[in-house]
Amino acid sequence: MKQPAVDQAATPVLEVADLTKHYGDRMALDHISVTFSPGLTGLLGPNGAGKSTLMNLIADNVKRECGTITYGGQDILTLGRAFRQQLGYMSQEQGLYEQFSAREFLQYMANLKCLPRASARSQIEQLLQTFHLQRDAHRKLGGFSGGMRQRVLLCQALLGSPRVLLLDEPSAGLDPQERLNLRSYLANLARRRVVLLSTHIASDVESIASQIVLINQGRLVTEGSPAHLMQTAGAASLEQAYLYLVGAQQP
Ligand SMILES: Nc1ncnc2c1ncn2[C@@H]1O[C@H](COP(=O)(O)OP(=O)(O)OP(=O)(O)O)[C@@H](O)[C@H]1O
Ligand SMILES: [Mg+2]
Repeated sequence: MKQPAVDQAATPVLEVADLTKHYGDRMALDHISVTFSPGLTGLLGPNGAGKSTLMNLIADNVKRECGTITYGGQDILTLGRAFRQQLGYMSQEQGLYEQFSAREFLQYMANLKCLPRASARSQIEQLLQTFHLQRDAHRKLGGFSGGMRQRVLLCQALLGSPRVLLLDEPSAGLDPQERLNLRSYLANLARRRVVLLSTHIASDVESIASQIVLINQGRLVTEGSPAHLMQTAGAASLEQAYLYLVGAQQP
């Protein structure tokens, strides 16, 4: 798949600098500095690398300790609501209201995001259709399968067409068809947005990412285009490059 052209001028850049986070005496992020330009950034790293911590800090779900996060040159904490309105976030572990139907849940989330009712209704129907949930939209979430729940969570992150999207392992639990569907949807969506997507499946982002950020043990290992990483590692696929670059770090 050809990488989509990105309209860099239209969307502000998200930048983290010197970001550090401890949980007790465990260092989850160690002075990370990265610029996320419009387009899709694949965030790769082994379990415990710090991917979710990075997203949680950008979403301001965990308290920042040291470093800065700016959007269009302004700190996101100063921007406050103005930044939150631009942000769509799908966290790795998120509870659902089991008694709500998928449609009710999305309506509830649209209310929280203060979306106008008519526009919310059409967006919800569009998203349900895109992610093949329309037939089940009236069913209670408590009876949804893992992959279906994952798609509902994706829909809520996409409500309101946010210009910054944080997707923490969105393809976890999706069947191959739904993974493919998500990939082509995001390839198109990322043209004018900053999309940060974490995954363990390098092939999910190899063809659609303009940038890969590889982290391990809270540190930035390397960043660059998928082609650049493959070239650096002398690898035929991004997964091989990932294994080589992470492996090269092991003592
Ligand atoms: N709430 C927490 N309390 C204590 N330690 C935490 C907490 N959240 C994360 N950590 C620790 O911070 C480090 C980074 O965790 P994080 O969840 O960011 O990794 P990850 O890259 O998202 O991993 P995974 O691929 O398993 O999702 C790990 O050592 C983890 O144990
Ligand atoms: Mg995680």
